[in-house]
Amino acid sequence: MLLQIPQVLTAEQVAHCRERLEQADWADGRITAGHQSAKAKDNAQLPEDSPVARELGTLVLEALARNSTFFSAALPKRIYPPLFNRYAGGQSFGYHIDNAIRYDRSSGRAEPIRTDLSATLFLSAPEEYDGGELVIEDTFGAQSVKLAAGDLVLYPGTSLHKVLPVTRGTRLASFFWIQSMLREDSQRRLMFELDVSIRRLTQTVPEHPSLVQLTGVYHNLLRRWAEP
Ligand code: NI
Repeated sequence: MLLQIPQVLTAEQVAHCRERLEQADWADGRITAGHQSAKAKDNAQLPEDSPVARELGTLVLEALARNSTFFSAALPKRIYPPLFNRYAGGQSFGYHIDNAIRYDRSSGRAEPIRTDLSATLFLSAPEEYDGGELVIEDTFGAQSVKLAAGDLVLYPGTSLHKVLPVTRGTRLASFFWIQSMLREDSQRRLMFELDVSIRRLTQTVPEHPSLVQLTGVYHNLLRRWAEP
């Protein structure tokens, strides 16, 4: 499931992130690439232990914690501390698949996180740059994604994906991975659709007795499948 979630960050939060990113010390993006993807990767990135990355990463995580669509779609167990990247001057990232396991070292220990889902949070407005589309190979073919600043795209970590060359302007984004309580994309999709349906019914027919039953089905499926 490929899902776009609008306005994860407010305009003020986007402006704050951009102001901090402008003053930050950027490094070559290959610092977090695996051996194979390093050959395809050409961008700049904030080092994981950089104070700006930590500060803005916390801001992003707090925004995600308040976002019920994100929670419902991802059913997150662990979230990798958000990273930040920058593409300009023709930079791109060719087709690759992200490493299955990433180690979160922010606590001082290496905590493994299985990358069930990948997320990109756009921090530049689409009119500020040419190119820079995130192209994701989905079950229905290649999807090209270029969102408003503050919007997020969530997609399965199993997908082949690339970033097209940025031929004008600068593309800033945050990206991170999520280990879900549900490993399988098909199960996450079912649970998301069920949750969306229950919420809609709660709005339109709040007194309907079947709502209690449906909510029970949701939780009993989650109990059966989840690895909390
Ligand atoms: Ni990637």
